[in-house]
Amino acid sequence: MEGAPARGDLYLEGDRIAAVVPGDPAPPWAGRVEREIDAASYWILPGLIQTHLHLCQTLFRGVAEGRDLCRWLQEVIWPWEAALEPETIALAAEAGIRELLAGGTTTILDMGSTRHTEVILETAARLGIRGFFGPALMDRGPEPARPLLRPGEESLRELGELARRWEGAENGRIRLALCPRFVPSVSDGLWRELASSTEFAGLPIHTHGSETQEEVREVERLTGKTPPAYLAGLDGAQGRIKMAHGVWLSAEDRNHLHRAGTAVVHCPGSNLKLASGLADVRTLRREGITVGLGADGAACNNRLDAFSELRLAGYIQGLLHGPESVSAAEILRLVTLEGARVLGLEDQIGSLKAGKCADLVLLDPHLSDNPWAAGDGWESPEAFLVFAGGRELVRETWIAGRPVYRREANDLVDEAQDRNYRAARRRLAERAGYA
Ligand code: GUN
Ligand code: ZN
Repeated sequence: MEGAPARGDLYLEGDRIAAVVPGDPAPPWAGRVEREIDAASYWILPGLIQTHLHLCQTLFRGVAEGRDLCRWLQEVIWPWEAALEPETIALAAEAGIRELLAGGTTTILDMGSTRHTEVILETAARLGIRGFFGPALMDRGPEPARPLLRPGEESLRELGELARRWEGAENGRIRLALCPRFVPSVSDGLWRELASSTEFAGLPIHTHGSETQEEVREVERLTGKTPPAYLAGLDGAQGRIKMAHGVWLSAEDRNHLHRAGTAVVHCPGSNLKLASGLADVRTLRREGITVGLGADGAACNNRLDAFSELRLAGYIQGLLHGPESVSAAEILRLVTLEGARVLGLEDQIGSLKAGKCADLVLLDPHLSDNPWAAGDGWESPEAFLVFAGGRELVRETWIAGRPVYRREANDLVDEAQDRNYRAARRRLAERAGYA
């Protein structure tokens, strides 16, 4: 059964899964494979999917501690984003993508900053990750946001250029997303133009919403509605909105999300780190709302590890609904098939199934901090992964039939590149007025 643990053989052909045996018949060429990997002691998962990230914030990790969302954005994140230049955003994207690949994440929904998105796209294309990318759109905001703001027409023009160059690039691996940052930073006129534009009708709309009580109050002040009610009222946005956080939601808000086909991305690490609150994923799921999972940015987490998010998601659901409510297999689906559904890619990624993209993670349970406990005697392998797993288990990550990370190559330890990351951080600190 798709999704259930099973022992068998996985056949890849080109960028696709050709067969999962038993279940599928072995392909006719099974006796003449080009390369065979003995993965008998490994576990293979579909590549993990994180549906809310900010690669542009990777070099800001650890510089914005001890703040709630509003202070975090205004005092640090917006000034640091405004300090980004093509060279520094390229390094931020590279550091983030390398960390994600090393942790088994193969597909992301990323929100850039307001400028230099083409650099993020070039880096993603080069490093092999799959995902949706787009500039954060901001055309209004308080003083600290000013250097980031761009007039709507300018953003729309740039989006058109980016979409023509990048939508579907790299054999469909690179896609574009519209990323109005959140309701307070985008004017009503721009929201409506984005949602109703025929040019961008095929693109998902990626935003933040109902993250903190303060943000909900601000949206009510600006629009007379809560974030889900406001988003549900945008013509042309039906089924396209992916709203990160969804912490502060009333029953009526959930109704709006459901009616408008808005997916929610749970960001437990970020919600806890910024003390935003506890999102009730189980109730959302029971009411038929699609839910994915994401680390958010490195500056509010401070990891980009899907396994950390899974564990926190499990803990929070247990706290809210009792430990008996937590099925590790269901939690794991947030970064596999449910994540794929958030992106409308459920027929392409999110499970090991013939015809889907060959996006895989090879996990070696013996790389665990407690190798003697790895997997043996556990009620389920999913419980091991969710409650004892971590990115240290990842032996190899494959995307579109190609290895993009190998532990032996130790891709994360690269002294020259680490020096570049450190220098870029110093430059950003100087430019943001923090040095
Ligand atoms: N709301 C608006 N922008 C952001 C952001 O960059 N991160 C988070 N967590 N929330 C936001
Ligand atoms: Zn975010």
